[in-house]
Amino acid sequence: MSDPTSTDDLLYMGIDLGTFRSVVATSSGQEAAVLSYVGWPKDFVARRALGKDIVYGAEALDQRQALNLHRPLQGGVLREGTALDEQAVAALIGHLIEVGGGQGRRLRVAVGVPAECLRINKLAMKQAVGAYAEKMIVVSEPFAVAYGLGTLNNAVIIDIGAGTVDFCIMHGTVPDERDQRSLLSAGDAIDQQLYERLRERIPEATVTMNMARQLKETYGFVGTSEKLVKVKLPVSGKMVAYNITDEISHACAYIVPPIIETTMRLIGAADPEYQPRLRNNILLSGGCSQLRGLADYLTRQMEPFEPCRFRCIPDPLNAGARGALALVKDMPEEFFNQL
Ligand SMILES: Nc1ncnc2c1ncn2[C@@H]1O[C@H](COP(=O)(O)OP(=O)(O)OP(=O)(O)O)[C@@H](O)[C@H]1O
Ligand SMILES: [Mg+2]
Repeated sequence: MSDPTSTDDLLYMGIDLGTFRSVVATSSGQEAAVLSYVGWPKDFVARRALGKDIVYGAEALDQRQALNLHRPLQGGVLREGTALDEQAVAALIGHLIEVGGGQGRRLRVAVGVPAECLRINKLAMKQAVGAYAEKMIVVSEPFAVAYGLGTLNNAVIIDIGAGTVDFCIMHGTVPDERDQRSLLSAGDAIDQQLYERLRERIPEATVTMNMARQLKETYGFVGTSEKLVKVKLPVSGKMVAYNITDEISHACAYIVPPIIETTMRLIGAADPEYQPRLRNNILLSGGCSQLRGLADYLTRQMEPFEPCRFRCIPDPLNAGARGALALVKDMPEEFFNQL
């Protein structure tokens, strides 16, 4: 039997549980990403065709016609009382632990989740992770990002994901609720906007939400674009070329005003002596921080008010999981299960 006081066989794991994409990073150097989809076969034929009882990630998205598909954190919260969402999130966590090589190991896990999820459903999250881990903590995603960057003081982290934009002010301590905000318009909202705009302008083309997301990821920009966005869309089985620059531009700009407003309010509520330092150090993470021109555009938009400096961090997709891993490795014993 292993000695429970020994730390030799411990595996530390950081998990970024995203509304669209989850990432796991471990102390043995593994990193893996899984789209946050869980699907159960719709019937016995689907079960037989798929050859399994449960399907995860990109495979689940791809096989969605044969599955009851769940994206348990869509909208930034684990919907309370929805047993299937709770089952799906527990299954997803189990799968992430498995792909991270954690099965059968003594585990210490830090999970970064959207701030809103933390507020509403911390207990359900803890139970889901607690089933696998000896010790665990659940933290907000931007805090995990900040910790991983070593940015512990005088900074604002804005994580722009699929379901949420999460804000966190770092002032040298563990942030509390007053230092954090969450908005529910992020990448998914851009996809929805783009989808509706394309449907309206080009009703003859067949466009799905998944295609809208891929168009955003490939061509998304804010501000002025150097090039026109010309793409081919399917019309009655044929591919037809369209210029969709305006649709992309307007859809991507949709998330900007609430980000500006929340940044101003959050910094405005901080101690006035520290506000200039915060304004000068605003870091963007998450998948949608990759929208071309975003940091410069936000910086320019703030000029008429109080000048601010927005910058994108490197590796915006994996920074949450790496930060959670750094956090769980450094965590003093007495902090586990407290945060
Ligand atoms: N190159 C890109 N340009 C713009 N958007 C992108 C790009 N790559 C990914 N995205 C978008 O980023 C979002 C996913 O980012 P991320 O993985 O940070 O989200 P998440 O962690 O699942 O969501 P949340 O943080 O809200 O829980 C999706 O909306 C995706 O379409
Ligand atoms: Mg995220």
